[in-house]
Amino acid sequence: MTVGIDKIGFYTSPYFIDMVDLAHARNEDPRKYLIGIGQKKQAVIPPTQDVVTMAANAAQKILSEGDKEKIDLVIFGTETGVDNSKSAAIYVQSLLGISKQARSFEIKQACYGGTAGVQMAVDHIRLHPESKALVLAADIARYGLNTPGEVTQGGGAVAMVISSNPRILEVEDKRSFHSDNIMDFWRPLYRHDAVVDGHYSNSIYVDFFQQTWTDYRQKYHRTIDDFRALTFHLPYTKMGLKALRSIIDQSKHPEAILEQFEASRMYNALVGNLYTGSLYLSLISLLSNSEALNQDDLIGLFSYGSGAQGEFYSGRLSDQFDRSQLKTDMDTILSERSRITIEQYQEMYQTFLPLNEEDKLFDVSSDNSCFVLKGRKENRRIYLTKNGSGDDQSLD
Ligand code: CAA
Repeated sequence: MTVGIDKIGFYTSPYFIDMVDLAHARNEDPRKYLIGIGQKKQAVIPPTQDVVTMAANAAQKILSEGDKEKIDLVIFGTETGVDNSKSAAIYVQSLLGISKQARSFEIKQACYGGTAGVQMAVDHIRLHPESKALVLAADIARYGLNTPGEVTQGGGAVAMVISSNPRILEVEDKRSFHSDNIMDFWRPLYRHDAVVDGHYSNSIYVDFFQQTWTDYRQKYHRTIDDFRALTFHLPYTKMGLKALRSIIDQSKHPEAILEQFEASRMYNALVGNLYTGSLYLSLISLLSNSEALNQDDLIGLFSYGSGAQGEFYSGRLSDQFDRSQLKTDMDTILSERSRITIEQYQEMYQTFLPLNEEDKLFDVSSDNSCFVLKGRKENRRIYLTKNGSGDDQSLD
């Protein structure tokens, strides 16, 4: 029996800034952002979207009514949680009308949460092959205006259905882990923006990649040339390239591996970091943009969550995989976004629910997403399902 990713969906904000505009506003050479960091555009998340609505928007595109009945596990990986108690998974389950017989919860280990969710779901389906699981990975990456990390912000959500006989990626039972207590990046509860030791985080990331890669190779007697492509958590796309370059001379055909890496970073360069979802956006990017993939090809996935947890695992491309629909959907989402000015971005960036008990309601009329955050009243978040008729339904 094979188990893995059967469906995958993506959502990001309809707004972005261009990295050349940001470079000019910050008196930087645009080539630093475009080449040195490897980012072209950055998603800007409006206050009417949070991780709940983004994940629900990503999932509703891929779930059939049959899926909603069969799903008995909903795992939400995020480091941008909306509550210390109630999980974002429960909100999404309710917004989407997923069976109430499901087990729903949220997990956290920085950007690693999405992978933790995928692997738990895969193990669950191995035991219960007749059921399905929904894994959500959503975040908003924030470092602050005028900070070195600003160019590596972004946001969005990836939703994945995990099942037996999957039509996208068959996840192998081959994994290696590395964890250690590291202060490279963290998000204290009293802050909207992350605290980061940027250059230290870069070197720890590469170190964790090498540890997990070496362990995986030794455990499973594989070499880099067994893989068609290696994909990475991409906080910014140059980061993955740095990790790949650290092992590329192990390959007899480095150009082929590097070419696949280029396909795997195309969409991330247009969206920015979405923390838990970044590795899976990179997988979507590879699957959509590589013309060299064949069924059964081995794909490596490196997941990294600051603090820190690393995992390297592998999967094989399903013989049922159909590239064209995924690529069409992705290209539509990314091409229909609007470019906003740096002034508009700065204003949007500073509009959010306050970190106190104050009530706040947003004007949601210009957000055409299916699910929106209306605001907060008496300490309760108010989510709306927009049905296009103006007769919006409220979940509070
Ligand atoms: N033309 C071309 N390249 C240029 C250039 C120019 N004119 N000017 C500079 N560059 C290059 C530099 O040489 C450098 O390249 P290398 O890294 O290959 O040497 C690159 O542009 C970046 O330059 P700096 O190192 O000077 O940039 P910086 O000090 O302003 O900050 C950063 C870079 C540390 C990544 C910062 O953006 C940051 O802190 N980001 C957030 C943290 C982060 O993403 N860490 C990643 C690992 S942690 C993780 O993965 C978890 C997570 O999601 C956060």
